[in-house]
Amino acid sequence: MSDASVLSIVGARPQFIKAFPVSRLLREQLSEVLVHTGQHYDFGMSDVFFEELDIPEPDYNLGVGSANHANQTAAMLRRIDEVVEAERPDMILVYGDTNSTLAGALVAAKRDLPVAHVEAGLRSGNWAMPEEVNRVLTDRCSDLLFVPSDRAVETLADEGITEGVTVTGDVMYDAITSVRDRAPSASAILGDPGYGDDEYVLATVHRQANTDDPARLASVVEGLSSSPRPVVAPLHPRTEEALKRHDLWERATAALDVIEPVGYLDFVGLLDGAERVATDSGGVQKEAFYLDTRCVTLREETEWVETVEAGWNELVGADAAAIRSALRRTDELPEKPSLYGGGRAAERVVDEIVSYLRPRA
Ligand code: UD1
Ligand code: UDP
Repeated sequence: MSDASVLSIVGARPQFIKAFPVSRLLREQLSEVLVHTGQHYDFGMSDVFFEELDIPEPDYNLGVGSANHANQTAAMLRRIDEVVEAERPDMILVYGDTNSTLAGALVAAKRDLPVAHVEAGLRSGNWAMPEEVNRVLTDRCSDLLFVPSDRAVETLADEGITEGVTVTGDVMYDAITSVRDRAPSASAILGDPGYGDDEYVLATVHRQANTDDPARLASVVEGLSSSPRPVVAPLHPRTEEALKRHDLWERATAALDVIEPVGYLDFVGLLDGAERVATDSGGVQKEAFYLDTRCVTLREETEWVETVEAGWNELVGADAAAIRSALRRTDELPEKPSLYGGGRAAERVVDEIVSYLRPRA
């Protein structure tokens, strides 16, 4: 068994967080070659997570950096393929829905290698979203599909995928549970004067549909600016660039407490202490739910439908008036159902991979 090897592909911020609980357990049972595509590369978007979470240094950093979707994915395909040629892994493991995910899955398909996909079976129903293309194509290439909920099983079945599907729960729940106690308070992160618990709203924005359309971005800034509480906004570099490009930077920094992206421990601390969060992130919607923080989602649809149905997440799109009113809602939140597993998702993922590879090892 110890000879079997898994080539794990990460590249973007949320993937470092998803990989850390899985990687730790995987390495107890078989060998892992960790490949960082280099999709994210700033210290605060990449290295900080490896340092804080004690993730082993990647065996390869492919340094692809930023480019348009086709070029970025093409560079990843070429370089991942070279690593596969050198390492001859038994399987490729991918996470989520980024270009790094799709590139790993496609290389595996072209090399006739099995693919394992963590966070399979999620759909927004919006084909204009680059991530939706990545999700559908990655699932089509996958042999092992690790899904967070029963709904995802149905989604895959509707697309004709029924083999190799396992409900594992959400590895991000495992991740957040393991760090929550170490997360500092908001006042420690933001320094003097800082904010106390429930004194601020946390906001993150980076979705292409929001950053690349100046009218939507202006409307999001206007909506957030109308918050009755101060808004702390750790800004993705994409959003900082877009605000500057669309001449909205002054407006945003005057109205919001704009800070650099923060590491995972700080982010969990900020989210835990926030009165509510406004976000277009996928991962943050779930993390808000796990930490009992009300969520306002700056999109028209979500892959994490269960959080909306549970009454903990409201979809408001980029409409300034809708954002304003969602930031003011004071109705009681309903009792929280248990969604996306009980914190042992990584264990299930690794068990499935080990039993799949055992006959071949
Ligand atoms: C990517 C994923 C998205 C995910 C997000 C997580 C795709 C299609 N998109 O979006 O699903 O939610 O990561 O954060 O894969 N940049 C920097 N420094 C960095 C990284 C990016 O300055 O370290 C800037 C560059 O200007 C770059 C832009 O951000 O062009 C976008 O980066 P990219 O990785 O292409 O997409 P994200 O928006 O980060
Ligand atoms: N996150 C972080 N620092 C930040 C913003 C987000 O550590 O400044 C973490 C957050 O806790 C979550 C993940 O990054 O685990 C979400 O990543 P992002 O929103 O970039 O991507 P998405 O989930 O939308 O793909």
